[in-house]
Amino acid sequence: TIRDLYKRTANPPRTVKNVNGWIRSVRLLKKMAFLDIQDGSCLHTLKVAIPIKKMDETAFLKGMKTGQSISIACAQWQDTPQREQPFELKIEDPLESISIRGTVTHDYPLQKKNHSLLFLRSLPTLKHRTTYLGSLMRFRSFAEQRLMNILQSDDFTKVSPPVLTSSDCEGAGELFEVKTASSKNYFGKPSYLTVSTQLHLEILAMSLSRCYTLTPCFRAERSDTNRHLSEFWMLELEMCFINDVRLLTMVVESVLRRLIESCCERSSELIPEITLQECLSKEEVLNRWNMLLNPEPWKVITYTEAIDILSDKHRMAPFEKYEPKWGEPLQTEHEKWLAGVHFQSPVFITDYPRDCKAFYMKTNTSASPGRETVACFDLLFPEMGEIAGGSIREDNYNELAQEMRRRGMNSSGELDWYLSLRLEGSVPHGGFGLGMERLISYLFGNHNIRDAIAFHRSATGTID
Ligand code: 4AD
Ligand code: MG
Repeated sequence: TIRDLYKRTANPPRTVKNVNGWIRSVRLLKKMAFLDIQDGSCLHTLKVAIPIKKMDETAFLKGMKTGQSISIACAQWQDTPQREQPFELKIEDPLESISIRGTVTHDYPLQKKNHSLLFLRSLPTLKHRTTYLGSLMRFRSFAEQRLMNILQSDDFTKVSPPVLTSSDCEGAGELFEVKTASSKNYFGKPSYLTVSTQLHLEILAMSLSRCYTLTPCFRAERSDTNRHLSEFWMLELEMCFINDVRLLTMVVESVLRRLIESCCERSSELIPEITLQECLSKEEVLNRWNMLLNPEPWKVITYTEAIDILSDKHRMAPFEKYEPKWGEPLQTEHEKWLAGVHFQSPVFITDYPRDCKAFYMKTNTSASPGRETVACFDLLFPEMGEIAGGSIREDNYNELAQEMRRRGMNSSGELDWYLSLRLEGSVPHGGFGLGMERLISYLFGNHNIRDAIAFHRSATGTID
């Protein structure tokens, strides 16, 4: 791969055999031709210089176009210390050495200039060939791998919970129902694509103490925003013997800090120098990582404190239209203002009102009557808002059964299996879910999480 070649710059080979890739650009002069080749293995391209000696070589090289796939059988290595690239390949006999593998249509849409992301999103089969989106895919791969390593080293076991399920974890009415093509209820009862694997993770945590997964989750989101997908990937973890939401926030922060530290160590391979109009430059990305790695721990405030701060400032702040009210969920505008403007740091908001959150969260005993809160957190990032959310789970059978009744849930016993966990060696436990696309997009300095997944699905703009 081209990445291999770059790794050999300190001790280069004389001749290089079998290089494959796609032509990024061609420059044809009278006596020389230059090709720029990419293969997606890294953010570099490979420069190829071809001295032209014969007429038929000119004709051959004239047929080379951006987007074509080519193989180079044999080339000479040349150090080019005075240029941007440390080396290039020289081809003496192009007719012998270069073979065109696949040609392109005459209106191949990707050209050398930087296209806008809006335009690239309309080219789902080609867009990843650009340096920016190719780098974004490699960045995601790196981050996923690193997150797995971190969790494994913290004694979490990776598990694979089901994606087809009959239960609705969040109860927010965003389920996709699954039927056969002939509209049959295949399982004899309604089944859905999972919105969160948490309920199954809780089962596994009761055996493994600590477990995690990275799986697709599906939500029929009504909102068409730059932060919502109908199919997204969630990193979820669950751990036993934990009963304080502060410990959970420390786990999230520690995992993410270690990830970002690794990103800093590898920034030169991860982040391209190019800047697209709608994205952060490399320098701004590195500043963002530094902000996240501030030695001060990330802020932690309760929901009630957040409402106080917001009420105090809301006439001045840019969310006049969204009056903060105790008992109501925070709006995205509130979240972005708190993290981005007020604290200018990631912030954990803990202990939300019980009725803003899902049924499984543990109720705080200290709350005053009529103002019940739950032991939960949302992690907000500046300019992004919510990136992760989690809670301590209700581990007491009677409390949980009562809360489910209060919400009119489980009337036909469909969640009895979940309740019964509280009768078989129940322990205090908790966990969280983190949206991979939100994290990747934020760390890469991109503004739309649609770019952080290879093929985005949302109510508008889905491909086959
Ligand atoms: O806050 P959510 O809904 O929490 C849960 O589902 C819990 N059961 C997780 C747990 O405790 N195991 O979702 C978790 C995260 C959000 O913070 C957000 O980052 C992401 O998942 N997320 C989405 N990302 C992209 N598109 C969507 N439609 C998303 N909905 C949630
Ligand atoms: Mg949430």
